[in-house]
Amino acid sequence: MKIVLLGYMGSGKSAIGKYLAEKLNYEFVDLDVYISNKLNMSIVSIFETRGELYFRKLEHQFLQEILNTEDKFVLSLGGGTPCYYNNYEYYYGKKDISSFYLKASIATLFDRLIHDKANRPLINTFSDEELKEFIAKHLFERNEFYTKADHVIDVNDKSITSISEEILSILA
Ligand code: S3P
Repeated sequence: MKIVLLGYMGSGKSAIGKYLAEKLNYEFVDLDVYISNKLNMSIVSIFETRGELYFRKLEHQFLQEILNTEDKFVLSLGGGTPCYYNNYEYYYGKKDISSFYLKASIATLFDRLIHDKANRPLINTFSDEELKEFIAKHLFERNEFYTKADHVIDVNDKSITSISEEILSILA
C-alpha cells in the first residue's frame, strides 16, 4: 500500500506523514525534500532562480517517479501538487494507493503559517493581513483539487497523534 497525504501549506502533511511511516514501518517521502535533494537547492531558491513554472514541472516529474516505485511508503505532497498538470490522476482512485486530504480551516492555517512563512516562497513576502486574504482565496481555488482524495480528514484542533490514529483506523 502507498499512502499519499495532501493539503494546504501548514496542514500537517509532513509531521503526520513521519508519524504514520514510523507506525507502519514504511518509508517516509516528502516531495519537497525529494525535489530539493535532487537539485541540491532549497525550494525557495528554486522558485527565485528558476521560477514557479519550473518547480511545477519538477513536481510533476518526481511525483510520477516516486509513485512508479514498487515500495511501500507514506508520501507527503507539496501544497500545490494536486493542482497542476492533473497530478491527482496519479493517485486518486488508484487501487494500491490511499490518499488523504488533511483539511484545515482558514483560521487554523493562518495561525500556523503566520509563524512559518520564511521557507514558503508563495507567502514569504506577505504581511499578516495579506496572508489571511491570500489563504482564503487560494484555499477556495484549490478546493476542487484537494477534494480529489479518497478520504477527507478534518485536522482542526486535533493532535498529530489523534489525526494519525484516525488515518490508521481507516487503513486497518
Ligand atoms: C506550495 C507548497 C509548498 C511547496 C512550495 C509550493 C504550494 O509545500 O511545495 O512552496 O503551492 O502550496 P508545503 O505544503 O509542504 O509547504
